[in-house]
Order: sequence, then C-alpha cells, then structure tokens
Amino acid sequence: MTANWGEPTLGVVLTDAEKTLTEAGAWQPRGDAEKLAAHVLGCTVEQLSPDATLGLEDLARLRELVARRADRTPVEYLTGCAVLGGVEVAVGPGVFVPRKHTEPLLAWGLDVVREVSDPLAVDLCTGSAAIALAVAHARPDATVHAIELDPVALSWARRNVARQAELGDTPIILHAGDVTDPAMFADLDGTVDLLLANPPFVVDGVVLPPEWQEHQPWPALFGGQDGLVVIRAVVAAATRLLRAGGGVAIEHDDEQAEVVMSLLREQDTFTDISYGVDHWGTPRYTTARRK
Ligand SMILES: C[S@@+](CC[C@H](N)C(=O)[O-])C[C@H]1O[C@@H](n2cnc3c(N)ncnc32)[C@H](O)[C@@H]1O
Repeated sequence: MTANWGEPTLGVVLTDAEKTLTEAGAWQPRGDAEKLAAHVLGCTVEQLSPDATLGLEDLARLRELVARRADRTPVEYLTGCAVLGGVEVAVGPGVFVPRKHTEPLLAWGLDVVREVSDPLAVDLCTGSAAIALAVAHARPDATVHAIELDPVALSWARRNVARQAELGDTPIILHAGDVTDPAMFADLDGTVDLLLANPPFVVDGVVLPPEWQEHQPWPALFGGQDGLVVIRAVVAAATRLLRAGGGVAIEHDDEQAEVVMSLLREQDTFTDISYGVDHWGTPRYTTARRK
C-alpha cells in the first residue's frame, strides 16, 4: 500500500523495518525502527506520523540504517547519540554506549550530595563521560573529575565535555589514566563526596549479544577472569578518596551484588553497604558510605 507510486507511507516502512529487526533478534524492533526513522527525518519519535510519505532519499537512508541495525550495530551508534540523566552524549565506534540501567546509580549519587554544597565528585571509567556530565548538569556547583584509560573513548569524552560546556554546564575535568593505578587522584585523598563508577565487569570469555561482543570496545566490557579486576581497584580507590560520610556506587551485573558488597565489607571502612536495582528490578549497582 503506497500513498504515491514509489513513496510508501512511514507506517508501512516502519512495519517492514520492525519485521526485519524482529527476525534479526533486536530486542526492541519497533522502538529501534522509530528511533532510526526520527533520526533520518530530523524529528522526535513522538513527531513521527504513520501517514506521512517518505521521499526516496529518506527511504534509502532509513533502509540502510535498518540493515545495519539488523546486523546488530547498536542503535545509538547509528543515531550518534545516547542520553543519561537528561544529557545527550555523542557515541560511536570505540566508546561504550551509556545505558538506561545506569540511571538509578546516578540518581543515588545525586541524592548523596543533595545537602552538600560545592560537592567534589569523581567518575571512574568514564567512557563517553556520560555519568560525569550528568552530575555536572544536575549540580552546577559540583567539581567533577572523570578518568578514562582508552584513547578512543577519551576522544569521544573530550568532544562531549566540550559540547556540554558550550551549552552552559560547568565544565568537568577529564583525565587520561588507569583506575588500577594506586596513585590515581592521590591529591584528592580523603576529600571526595561522591565516587561513581561503571567499570568493565563481564567475566573474560563470556559471549555477549552482538551489540556488545561485535561492536563495542572490549576494554569497556571485560573485567578479567572473575570480572572483578577493575571493580577491586574502584573499591580501593573509594577507601582512599572518600571523605567520612562520602558515598560510592559501583555498577555491576545482576549476579555480582553479593561479591561487590563483600569486597566493600572487607575494607572495614564502609557502612550502609547495600545494592540497588535497575528499571527491570534487577540488582545493578552496589552502594556504601565511608565511615
Ligand atoms: C562499562 S564502560 C562505562 C562507560 C561510562 N561510564 C558509561 O557508563 O557509559 C567502562 C569504561 O571503563 C574504561 N576502562 C576500562 N579499564 C579501565 C581502567 N583500568 N582505567 C580507566 N578506565 C578503564 C573502558 O575503556 C570503558 O570506557
């Protein structure tokens, strides 16, 4: 069914795209098709009209993007952006795509510093800088340091940091460095109000869905033979960097809450150790306060 010869309606194109993406195993075929259509048409998903006709150029571009999504390229690499905490960051090959799962960790962190004026925050393993920029966006009075090891991820982070500063947010301070370095941020020892981290935590050798396994950088995903190599370094850093009463939140997979809580207990420097859940109700991050 077409409105004009050669120009199908958006509704028809979306139904075709949804079918293609369902067959390819994409989790949110309709949502992805709509995001790609909105990207091609330069509008929001809410503004899409099923009765609109698509010009041949837009149609070709949309079909190309749907084919790439069917190859399980993350939809955010195709639209070029992802959102965390109301901040849009640019993403593409070489940088981890920020996930909705991280929103509750961010909300917990912002709550920790709600009553603290001019808080000092650090984001370890910053990737695109999404968490750090979301903190700076919510708290213009905060000083936010972010650190990342991978040079390609860092180049995305630099671009995002510059853009948010241009948009008027307080600039964050981006560092190239290794979270496992025991001297990382040594000048901040005992002064940090909030430490957030979404480190690599997947056990080496686990095979992930293609969106991660084939498209996203492995240093962002794999955390050694037990998945905990970087998480252990984050716990050590929190012990050293946080001031008394400061809070730490560490993202992990749905089965790691117990072990991450044990790592925090072993330090004997934390209180209020517990875990939080993501939007699916799955254990997703562990939190603690420095005694
Ligand atoms: C799961 S991604 C999270 C990125 C970002 N925080 C987010 O939530 O979207 C983990 C990031 O940690 C970085 N990373 C891995 N090992 C690191 C290390 N030892 N020191 C600093 N960054 C590291 C990876 O390059 C990747 O960008």
